Amino acid sequence: MRYRRQREHVLGTIGRVSSRQRVMSQIKRLTTSTKDFSKGLDRTGLVMGSPSALLQVLEGTRQCPPPIWLMRQAGRYLPEYRKIRERAGSFLDLCFTPDLAAEVTLQPVRRFPLDAAILFSDILLVPHAFGQTLQFSVGEGPQLRPVMGVDEISRLPRSIDLETLAPVFQTIRLVRAELPRETALLGFCGAPWTLATYMVAGSNSFDHAPARLLAYREPKAFAALIDRLTQASIDYLVEQFRAGVDAVQIFDSWAGILPPDQFQHWCITPARKIVAAVRKQCPGAKIIGFARGAGTMLERYADQVPVDAVGLDWMIDLTFAREQIQARRPVQGNLDPLALVAGGEVLDCAVDTVVNAFAAKPFIFNLGHGILPETPITHVERMIARVRGYG
Ligand code: CP3
Repeated sequence: MRYRRQREHVLGTIGRVSSRQRVMSQIKRLTTSTKDFSKGLDRTGLVMGSPSALLQVLEGTRQCPPPIWLMRQAGRYLPEYRKIRERAGSFLDLCFTPDLAAEVTLQPVRRFPLDAAILFSDILLVPHAFGQTLQFSVGEGPQLRPVMGVDEISRLPRSIDLETLAPVFQTIRLVRAELPRETALLGFCGAPWTLATYMVAGSNSFDHAPARLLAYREPKAFAALIDRLTQASIDYLVEQFRAGVDAVQIFDSWAGILPPDQFQHWCITPARKIVAAVRKQCPGAKIIGFARGAGTMLERYADQVPVDAVGLDWMIDLTFAREQIQARRPVQGNLDPLALVAGGEVLDCAVDTVVNAFAAKPFIFNLGHGILPETPITHVERMIARVRGYG
């Protein structure tokens, strides 16, 4: 298989990865005994046993201090990540090489006392599994080809071949076997709308005009694309649960660019379908919904999408978020990633503001979007210590 060849190639050049031996022996153990990873799983593949603080919040129970993890916590701000990233070759090689992806997933939870690890992968692996070629060029962000127009959409397969994503599921098994039970393992997918913005533009686009125009001009074709992505997200998340994740997050990073009626159509409706279908196959599956930039539209999202927690970005009004969103569901968020870059008293004050706004009810501390590559590690330590010292 392709990923095995890639793994051999990368491991040949990797040299000293601190826990490489451990990860390799895990691979050996997991590939020789299926009993090992069926232990502790129920019939649907969901993990049983003592739930972590994070899972308890997702069950609706307040924890004090609140559990904490960080979006994009595995990434370029960590020197150990940069080292493996450089040696892995391309970003995709890293995503598709389970022992390296597992290693990178574990790096932040080894370094910091976090309550969850998030699978190292990318939301754009789903378009890749649909047959779009995906490249991450330095300084340019992702490039997807061919760009999706009406013809390309009509030629899309009805579902993705999950075998293409087998290395991701193997990464999950490796990580779950390494992680202590009290550290949750999170899987994720991109929401259909956010994936569509990349698939239709072929890259990051300033105001997502290509996808928005296609939705206006060719609503049927666009709806077909969203339907395909909705089904793919369901299949992908179910498989992640079967491989051992404890909960998943649906990233709708570009939800906030849509007018309200389209937010309903392209964000809320697909998210409802995904949550219902995943729970049908994996009863009790825990799901966090993150519709970034949704503003006051988030109230409708919280009402209509039965997620276990709603992710908050840093732009949202805190009183609105507490009174309208947290009154409905547990919330997660929402420190400004730039306050973390700034550090010092600015950071302390920002942490206190977030904790004071939400910690009286079920709440998971996080950033309001991904951690930035220029973030100093000492600032991350300071923030986590402050959150952990709460209460
Ligand atoms: O630690 C984690 O959070 C797990 C890994 C993760 C990555 N991407 C790794 C990554 C997760 C959860 C994502 C999600 C993702 N990917 C989103 C949703 C969250 C968000 O940030 O809005 C989106 C929109 C993407 C698409 C994407 N991937 C872009 C636009 C880029 C380029 C911009 C950038 O940040 O570099 C990526 C690349 C990417 N994904 C990197 C990482 C660590 C950087 C690539 C590198 O290391 O060279």
